[in-house]
Amino acid sequence: MLLAIETSCDDTAAAVLEGRKVLSNCIANQNVIHKTYGGVVPELASRAHQSKIVPVISQALVEANIDKKQLTAIAYTQGPGLLGSLLVGGSFAKSMALALDLPLIPVNHMHAHLLVHFIDGYVTPEFPFLGITISGGHTQLILVKGYFNFELIGTTLDDAIGEAFDKCGKIMGLSYPAGQEIDKLAKNGDKHRFAFPIANPKGYNVSYSGIKTAFMNFIKIEEAKDSKFIKKNLNDLCASLQNSLIQTILNKIKIVSNDFGLNRIVIGGGVAANSEICNELKKQKTKNRLELFIPPIEYTTDNAAMIGIAGYFKLNERKYGNLFDESKSRLQI
Ligand code: KG4
Ligand code: ZN
Repeated sequence: MLLAIETSCDDTAAAVLEGRKVLSNCIANQNVIHKTYGGVVPELASRAHQSKIVPVISQALVEANIDKKQLTAIAYTQGPGLLGSLLVGGSFAKSMALALDLPLIPVNHMHAHLLVHFIDGYVTPEFPFLGITISGGHTQLILVKGYFNFELIGTTLDDAIGEAFDKCGKIMGLSYPAGQEIDKLAKNGDKHRFAFPIANPKGYNVSYSGIKTAFMNFIKIEEAKDSKFIKKNLNDLCASLQNSLIQTILNKIKIVSNDFGLNRIVIGGGVAANSEICNELKKQKTKNRLELFIPPIEYTTDNAAMIGIAGYFKLNERKYGNLFDESKSRLQI
C-alpha cells in the first residue's frame, strides 16, 4: 500500500497504489490561480500546494478506503520541477515517512511519465523502447532499457513543446494552459492555411523558441493590418500552429527510431493527450509497423499515480535511501 505525492509544478496530487493497481488518484488543480498571469507563478504554486496537500492526501486515503496506518511506503516527486513546489511535497512526504516509520522513495518526474504505462490494467511495453516525454517543462527522447535504465538521446535546446502551446495560446488570448483548447479549436481548422517554421537542429535535439517568436511576429503584423485577425482565423491559426509544433518532434522521433533501430514508441506527459500527435503516430504505426503506446488520458498530465508506479518498482528493487542515513538522505530531498 503505497502513498504517492506529486507537487512538481502546479498540480497538488496524491494517489494510493496496491502493488501496480491504482486505488485512488486525486488532483487539486491550480489553474484558476495561475490563469490571471498566463503561466505558473512559482511562489503562488508553493503556497497553493501548502494549503491543498493535506486535503488531497486525506481524499486519496478515503477514496482508497484505507487508513494511513495501513500504508507500507511513501513515494514523492524529487524532481525535476519548481523548487518551492517540490519542497512542499518532499517535506510532507519525509515528515509522514518519519512519523509512520515507512520507507521513503524519491521519484524522477520524467521517468514516472513513462513508467505510467506499467500501471495494472493496461498493455505494457517491453524493453527497450524509445520514450518520448512531451510536457509543459520538457521535450525528451529517451532510450529506455529497463525500469531504471534511461539514456537521454535528445532534448529541447530551449522551450518545451507544452510551453510553446501555452505561450502561443496566450498570444491568441486563450487561457492557461492552452494546449487542450488549441487541440479542440484545431479540429475545425485548416492546418495548411499558415506555414510556421518547423525547427530542425542538427542531431537529435529539438527547439521551440523560434516557432514561438515567428508566431508572435506573424500575429503582430497581421493584427496591425486587421485588429480582428485572431478572432477571424482562430481555428486555422490553432491547426497550423499545432501542426508545426508536432511535426518538429515527429521528425526527430522518426530519425531516432531509424538510427537506433527502435520501433517501439512510448509517449508520456501532458502533450501526449494531444489528439493530432496521437493520430499522426497512429498513421506511422501502420505505415512503419511501429509498436505504439499512448497513456490513458487521466495519466497524461501530471498525476500522482505515475509517481506511485515508479515508486513501486523502486521499492521492489530497494532503490531508496534510509532516512536516518545522512549519506543516503541527501538523495531524497
Ligand atoms: O505533464 P504536464 O501536466 O506538466 C509538466 O510536467 O509540465 O503537462 C502540461 C502541459 C501543458 O503545457 C498543457 O498545455 C499541455 O500539457 N497539454 C496539451 C494537451 N493537454 C495538455 N497540449 C496539447 N494538446 C493537449 N490536448
Ligand atoms: Zn509532468
